[in-house]
Amino acid sequence: MKTDHHIRFADAKKMTDVASQSVHLVVTSPPYPMIEMWDALFCQQADTKKALHSQKGIYAFELMHRQLDRVWNELYRVLVPGGIACINIGDATRTIDNEFALYPNHSRILSHMIGLGLTNLPNILWRKQTNAPNKFMGSGMMPPGAYVTLEHEYILIFRKGGKRLFNSQEEKMNRRQSAFFWEERNQWFSDVWMDLKGTRQKTGDKQLRQRSGAYPYELAYRLISMFSVMGDTVLDPFLGTGTTLFAAVAAGRNSVGYEIDKAFQPLVGQGFGQAIEQGLRRISERFDEHLEFVSDRQTAGKVIKYTNQVYGFPVITRQEIELMIPLPTAVKERTQNQFRVSYTMPEASPTAQPAAVPATSQPKKTGQLPLFD
Ligand SMILES: C[S@@+](CC[C@H](N)C(=O)[O-])C[C@H]1O[C@@H](n2cnc3c(N)ncnc32)[C@H](O)[C@@H]1O
Repeated sequence: MKTDHHIRFADAKKMTDVASQSVHLVVTSPPYPMIEMWDALFCQQADTKKALHSQKGIYAFELMHRQLDRVWNELYRVLVPGGIACINIGDATRTIDNEFALYPNHSRILSHMIGLGLTNLPNILWRKQTNAPNKFMGSGMMPPGAYVTLEHEYILIFRKGGKRLFNSQEEKMNRRQSAFFWEERNQWFSDVWMDLKGTRQKTGDKQLRQRSGAYPYELAYRLISMFSVMGDTVLDPFLGTGTTLFAAVAAGRNSVGYEIDKAFQPLVGQGFGQAIEQGLRRISERFDEHLEFVSDRQTAGKVIKYTNQVYGFPVITRQEIELMIPLPTAVKERTQNQFRVSYTMPEASPTAQPAAVPATSQPKKTGQLPLFD
């Protein structure tokens, strides 16, 4: 098996290289309107700059979103029927003209997406506790002017039309092989994520990484595993450091990323150099966690009914018996900003052991890792 990964350093408001109805899943996080670190980017448009400089907060908010709307319109065009879009976004709080206010980015994006004709599915709250010094915003301990602290972001989930269809025998088999473990389903499909473990990412250019507002690798890996099947195409129109593409490598999906700022190019290139090792580490972790889960259950005297036909280990449901995880083995830069990844597929045999994972990729279990270096 092979997957292809393309990066375009261009404005995602016009994704001319992406054909209509060719993308199965979008996983992305845009620049957040009304968060100061993104002002310069949004203020490249004169009307937005003018509104912000003349302290018209809600109007500047609206104009920033109108810029994002153009990317969302493109997202709608490129999604296949039944395709899914996951947008990570946080709200903003800001004092403008002496007036403190919440700027509800998530609800503005929701309205636009629903207006486009996308269906909103149950969303996820990503709980991000903060110990920042400005945690006690407003009047501190004195009522009524103290403000609630924002300690979560959203992952908004949309579908284009009804459920995606898998018609041919081959498509149905690929879907069954792309299944996740029962215990992963219990964890991943909770509507509050409090447990996002950071599969450690090498920072490369630390400053650029901080400036990017990168999300954890695990966030992208999970969403890709939850909402697409092997061989699908995943798009990130706001690529930043390339996290979504590296997670697609690990999950055996093709990917396309758009990024307006060419300064990210070396960082994304470096990331591809580490994507195999990073992917193998995550896959190895999945096997370890599953085997531990099975062993705990058996120790507790619970019978596990089914056996995975590929690896020969017990699984809880019939839907997991064909589950397999291809192992990425090599990445090759075909031309600039285009990468091809090769995989080994596990042999289907009822007696086989879990697919071999290189020893160097076995992580030491240390519990929760920091999200970023
Ligand atoms: C929040 S960051 C994404 C971070 C990314 N998820 C990661 O893990 O590194 C948003 C990115 O979108 C880029 N961007 C903003 N407007 C864009 C546009 N119109 N087209 C393409 N990229 C854009 C910014 O330069 C920035 O790198």
